[in-house]
Amino acid sequence: MDEKTAKREIARLRKEIRHHSKLYYELDASEISDFDYDKLFRRLGELEAEFPQFDSPSSPTHKVGGRASERLKKVTHLVKMDSLADVFSFEELTAFLDKSRQQLAEVDEEIFYTVEPKIDGLSVSLTYEKGELILGATRGDGIIGEDVTSNIRTIASIPQHLAEPLSLTVRGEVYMPRDVFSKLNEEKEAAGEKMLANPRNAAAGSLRQLDPEETAKRKLDIFVFNFQSGSLYGDGHAPKSHRETIERMRTLGFHTVEILCTTTKDTEILAAIEKLGNSRASLPCGIDGAVIKIDALSQRELLGETSSTPKWAAAYKYPPEEKETKLLDIAVQVGRTGVLTPNAVLEPVQLAGTTVSRATLHNIDIIRQRDIRIGDTVIVRKAGDIIPEIAGSIASKRDGSEQIFQIPSYCPSCGESIVFDKEDDEAEAGAARCINADCPAQLERRLIHFASKGAMGIDGMGPQIVRLLIENDLIQSAADIYKLTPGPLAALPRMGPQSAANLMAAIEKSKTAGPARLLFGLGIHHIGTAASESIIKQFGSIHALFEADVPTLCQVEDIGEIMAQSVIDFFSLPETKLLIQRLSDAGVVMEADTDVSDSNSLHGLTFVLTGSLSTLSRAEAGEKLKQLGAKVAGSVSSKTSYVVAGNAAGSKLDRARQLNIPIIDERQLFKLLQGETLE
Ligand code: IVH
Repeated sequence: MDEKTAKREIARLRKEIRHHSKLYYELDASEISDFDYDKLFRRLGELEAEFPQFDSPSSPTHKVGGRASERLKKVTHLVKMDSLADVFSFEELTAFLDKSRQQLAEVDEEIFYTVEPKIDGLSVSLTYEKGELILGATRGDGIIGEDVTSNIRTIASIPQHLAEPLSLTVRGEVYMPRDVFSKLNEEKEAAGEKMLANPRNAAAGSLRQLDPEETAKRKLDIFVFNFQSGSLYGDGHAPKSHRETIERMRTLGFHTVEILCTTTKDTEILAAIEKLGNSRASLPCGIDGAVIKIDALSQRELLGETSSTPKWAAAYKYPPEEKETKLLDIAVQVGRTGVLTPNAVLEPVQLAGTTVSRATLHNIDIIRQRDIRIGDTVIVRKAGDIIPEIAGSIASKRDGSEQIFQIPSYCPSCGESIVFDKEDDEAEAGAARCINADCPAQLERRLIHFASKGAMGIDGMGPQIVRLLIENDLIQSAADIYKLTPGPLAALPRMGPQSAANLMAAIEKSKTAGPARLLFGLGIHHIGTAASESIIKQFGSIHALFEADVPTLCQVEDIGEIMAQSVIDFFSLPETKLLIQRLSDAGVVMEADTDVSDSNSLHGLTFVLTGSLSTLSRAEAGEKLKQLGAKVAGSVSSKTSYVVAGNAAGSKLDRARQLNIPIIDERQLFKLLQGETLE
């Protein structure tokens, strides 16, 4: 490759990697499989090595991962959270093993390697002080992560207290169990929402919720796989091997990853990897590879690390399962916000244990980029064993009858013209969208969303019923739901008087869902559950949003300009005014609880809890403080308003004294919780 082409290729790869990296780390929504992502990454690394004149410190290859999310508090990791170097074949793995043996040639010891599963989840560190869990943090970029302590506390298998008063940090992978993941996806599909591509996105999204109650619902679990720092034993004993640290962490109460073998032999390593690969379907969590590590900690130290990966470990990535089949058609669906999403209709094929007849094509651009034609022989692949995708087509198998997919110019549902959103810095077309507010496909999606669990929560009003109601002209807008009467409902196919009565009761109940869930249910572009809650917390009612403007909305925590503009656009539509008026007339609650100011009595204050309290756990005290609008932080800083000191409070108390932060005891905490003031 000549210099000019290399330069262009490097720039292209960097741009593509940054795009996917942002989707993966910040938005928890991947567009390509990990396998493809890793390959792009690898290709960029190779080119930068071959053309060092174009290497740059800001290249994605020199970063560990994504950036910490803007919404959660940042924490700096005591010990850097490295990622692993990947290998994609047994040859590459053997090369890694040989190299590590060479580098340790001077050491007159045998070299043992361990093999364990690479869990497909989100990397976290857990820090304990004198046996108490004080901090749970995501990896972020490996140096700075996010404080997710309150969410971590909702994971039942993570010990809040250790049996011994040790101070230490361990690292593990938080994951969503397979069965929970499948159920969540079924619910999402039923509610007409975008499905999660893999369990890692599910775990990441759940752990980075701003509301711990939401996290708790996701039933996350953890496998701890590394001892990061501190002391594992009370008597100063230093562990000698990885296996020993894992066993010790298990004794201390952690769910630890299973070490499949400890061996000096390549053949045994390869056999363990193969066996693990074959058992993937029966594991409780998704795995995306096997991790091979040097067992002796002294040998690890001798090997050291590169800028972002240890030299004593490698991740073997399993190739995704792939099969060829025929692409029969490309079906275009219109989503709730009008975006057209293409789905591949396939000749059914057996893949990783299921029959696949549909696959995602992600977005319309990808069809063009990968030159996928209707009638093509395509490669279907299951990345992370979940949702199948089309990896590409085999041009050599064409017979000329294939047809190039045409992006529809008119909405397949309502027939109105399609418009194309331009992406900021791209000349290419972005998402194709139907902007007709009365489009029936959108209406259906919008109403399914309006009635769904996280929104108005109307039990029994799933996609099929919504479709029936629309088809029978019983509803054309969310407000019509509240005009329904039992008679026509009972007359619908498969309904009957009892189901009609149940549905009427559920509709009645939904009127008190509250303005935050209503705001979410309105389906405003970019406005999810967390944003709806923050907005209502600040504005108190739906009606107040008719008076809002972008600058005031931007003052709301976590609301950026794009989100603010989207709210303003929505509330300036005449249809919105009418809809809200009709909902309000029907008795749908538009105002937040009136005692909102009472329940916000600690707004603006930040508490740090330390030591043990006698009548409630620190987590419970934290929850109560938050219900009153306070923030609860994991460490003391100049921004702390009060440190609550329980029994055996530790270093945080010292830090509070150093910084002159008021220290209160449990009795004073109760006064505050009861709305009293401190003298
Ligand atoms: S060891 C210094 N072991 O894979 C320790 N990582 O890029 C380095 N992962 O983000 C990591 N299972 O969170 C290790 N058994 C395992 C793992 C594992 C999953 C994750 C880890 C990291 C990524 C590697």
